[in-house]
Amino acid sequence: MTLSHIPHDKHLIAPSLLSADFCRLGEEVHRLKASGADWLHFDVMDGRFVPNISVGIPVLASLRRTTDMPIDVHLMIVEPDSLLGAFAKAGADTLTVQAEACVHLHRTLQTIRQLGCRAGVSLNPHTPVSCLEYVRELIDFVLVMTVNPGFGGQSYIDACTAKIRTLRTLYPDLPIEVDGGIHANTIGRAAHAGANIFVSGSGIFSHTDYAAAIMELRACASG
Ligand code: DX5
Ligand code: ZN
Repeated sequence: MTLSHIPHDKHLIAPSLLSADFCRLGEEVHRLKASGADWLHFDVMDGRFVPNISVGIPVLASLRRTTDMPIDVHLMIVEPDSLLGAFAKAGADTLTVQAEACVHLHRTLQTIRQLGCRAGVSLNPHTPVSCLEYVRELIDFVLVMTVNPGFGGQSYIDACTAKIRTLRTLYPDLPIEVDGGIHANTIGRAAHAGANIFVSGSGIFSHTDYAAAIMELRACASG
């Protein structure tokens, strides 16, 4: 399945499955859909780019068989190029690479588009927006990391709010996703700065009622 269009002016909530109960992943996904989630955010970690290991291609393929929701694949891995085809085949709708992990970012983005996926570039907290300058026409959205990637449950880094604002000014039509420390008390800052796709792991899974948590995030983003 391919996402036809990613809006830049509509709020989307993308629960990060990193905080889900992996013993009951299918059930969690169905609950998230019934609770009004827009995308599923799927974090891939390799123990090299980030100091943690999560899930990969076989888990993605299983998820693809159980849901028609868009699956937003965030690759926190070094040298992603040789694996892009396998992730696309396993059912990724988006493929986001870390700018810092790509020596030939332009080529990597071309490959993602050729595979029929939407292309995202993720920027670590220290990475300047200028690295997008010559690849803008190859990206479908930018992902602003608002924590140092690797773990769920970290605190929102407020210095990244200014980066979101800069990106929104530079690229008025670019969808901007944020990831890390997005809770009811931080989502408003990111939204007001211009972000419109909100990844949240602990901000949703720490609640027993996912629908209420998602509704509260939407209200705080709009408020
Ligand atoms: C962090 C991951 C995030 C993480 C977010 O490296 O990319 O997607 O799961 O978790 P929270 O929302 O708990 O900060
Ligand atoms: Zn992520």
